[in-house]
Amino acid sequence: MDFNLFITENNHGAASSGALGCGSKDKLETEAGRAISSIRRWPDYAATPLRSLPGLAQSTDVGRIEIKNEAQRFGLGSFKALGGAYAISRLLEGRSSDATLSVCCATDGNHGRSVAWGAQMFGCDCVVFIHKTVSEERKQSIEHYGARVVRTAGNYDDSVREAQVTATREGWTVVSDTSYEGYMDIPMDVMAGYSIMTTEAIEQWGNGAPPTHVFLQTGVGSMAASVVVQLQRAYGESCPKIVLVDPANAACWYDSLKAGEPRVVGGDLDTIMAGLACGEVSHLAWELLQHDVAGVMTIDDSAAQQAMCLLAQGNDQDQPMVAGESGVGGLAGFIALAHDATSREKLGIDGDSRLLFFSTEGATDRDVYQSVVGKTPEQVTSA
Ligand SMILES: Cc1ncc(COP(=O)(O)O)c(C=O)c1O
Repeated sequence: MDFNLFITENNHGAASSGALGCGSKDKLETEAGRAISSIRRWPDYAATPLRSLPGLAQSTDVGRIEIKNEAQRFGLGSFKALGGAYAISRLLEGRSSDATLSVCCATDGNHGRSVAWGAQMFGCDCVVFIHKTVSEERKQSIEHYGARVVRTAGNYDDSVREAQVTATREGWTVVSDTSYEGYMDIPMDVMAGYSIMTTEAIEQWGNGAPPTHVFLQTGVGSMAASVVVQLQRAYGESCPKIVLVDPANAACWYDSLKAGEPRVVGGDLDTIMAGLACGEVSHLAWELLQHDVAGVMTIDDSAAQQAMCLLAQGNDQDQPMVAGESGVGGLAGFIALAHDATSREKLGIDGDSRLLFFSTEGATDRDVYQSVVGKTPEQVTSA
């Protein structure tokens, strides 16, 4: 299985600043506190489980593996339920109840579902832009929450631009999970919404020795940035080493960290990991993450497929688990390098290491899931 690993200059133990040096970190930390107490009051809020995988820890020769399972988050299938919907709730604060708000966003699936669900919950009009390779099933699951869905030409980044241009023309508000020049506040709220996933994981991890390594799948990087800020807040100087994982065909974090500045990946960004098929890093996430990751890697689709099957199969010690193709990226990255002595040494992974992963989606596209795993999600969980 192919992978590329680039070790950054920050590979010196803890992620750079337990002290949260930059202004955006302070802001995200404050906003995260507000988001966490707000989302905990939403109807049907429940923490998602953190699962131990002792069998996998043994077969990959590390001390401990825990994986946060976001498959059931608010019944939407992914951690994204937390971000878009929370940003809409923030937009509505302080507005008169007669003023209608129309929101829109671009998505490759999960974010659009969150925005549509939030718009329905808080009574707004909603239009969601999807690009040509977003599956019909994902389109329908957005429409299920009452949003109008518009299919655009080009790739994900083109749909982001189209959402912005249309919103400017129509007077709608863009609720994006990525940030760009002049558009930072709403993506900050989206990231603040994601934060609860990490605070739950930290609570569930317990008071023992903290994780030593966290591998995070990256699309635009908002999820990873929100995780890192929460880990730094909780663990300070003992913050785990962070490794980002990109699909090989949409390796904007890999290319950007290697170059030391944001780099754009073009083309159709073809990968089974649809949620990670982004060619441009979020500006805000770049600002937050650029000095705080130890390494960045690229993986092929086959690595994601293998990780999905491994989790679905389980073993005598690990319960079978349903995880979607974009959700397993971090774990897939670790598995790809787990038996490579050079990579382990470069990252300081040994038999005592304690690894934390976030499985950020369940079977959000059932057809894709079944074609990869050979079973329905129900067959996996009832095994
Ligand atoms: C399931 C899943 N995991 C991870 C990500 C990556 O998040 P980000 O784009 O913030 O890096 C996405 C993005 O859509 C996703 O859908």
